[in-house]
Amino acid sequence: MNVPDIIIAVDGFSATGKSTFAKMVAKEFDFLYLDSGAMYRGVTLYAMENGMIAEDGTIDEKALQAVIEGLDLHFQNDDESTKLYLGDRCVETEIRTLAVSSHVSPVSAIPFVRNYVDKRLRAFSEGGRVIMDGRDIGTTVFPNAELKVFMVADEQVRAQRRYDEMVAKGDTPVFEDIVKNLAERDYIDSHRETSPLRQPEDAYVMDNTHMTLHEELVWCLGVIQGKFGILEAPSLSW
Ligand code: CDP
Repeated sequence: MNVPDIIIAVDGFSATGKSTFAKMVAKEFDFLYLDSGAMYRGVTLYAMENGMIAEDGTIDEKALQAVIEGLDLHFQNDDESTKLYLGDRCVETEIRTLAVSSHVSPVSAIPFVRNYVDKRLRAFSEGGRVIMDGRDIGTTVFPNAELKVFMVADEQVRAQRRYDEMVAKGDTPVFEDIVKNLAERDYIDSHRETSPLRQPEDAYVMDNTHMTLHEELVWCLGVIQGKFGILEAPSLSW
């Protein structure tokens, strides 16, 4: 199906499957996929590794502000998947740990951090035909995105998916720690002053608690067809 060169913004709560959905749509319709959460995780990893986050979670904002504009965080395509790099080091595995997850929401609530990430995301998206996921893509980064999706799912299902994902990577997480982390992040993300997580008024809401990936793709196709008046018979690669 011929999908126009649009920007698709995917927002939602933690571990609702935004990146899995966005990657699948990107592959199906040949879009560039950008994971904004990875950028926030990258800044957080950098701050942790450089002693800018104390044991009690206090962030040395002055030290971070002094270096942030010089941080070279970017995406690179390796083996068909997009990975985050800090300079020439691939940090894709390190940014997904529970340690990073436990500090990322306070770091991403800092206005100068958001400003840095927003600028980079907009630069990476030049040329369009992009699907990007996060918390404020349809409200702040691309308020004029032609298609906005807001994803929700049951809390326990989200935690189970994140648990399975981490176990598959060889981690040994404690289920309750994940439940706690998701709840904490959702609270901080929705209550911060700068660009809080909100459902954009013009978003299509998807509750994927009981949906398979294929059903998500069919749902997306239906939305695109309806929104852009595409009458062509739908055909999916799987
Ligand atoms: O994959 P998951 O939903 O658990 O999180 P993520 O998309 O990797 O995002 C990690 C964290 O980055 C979120 O909990 C937010 O604190 C922050 N974030 C944000 O503030 N704004 C975005 N556009 C994306 C992520």
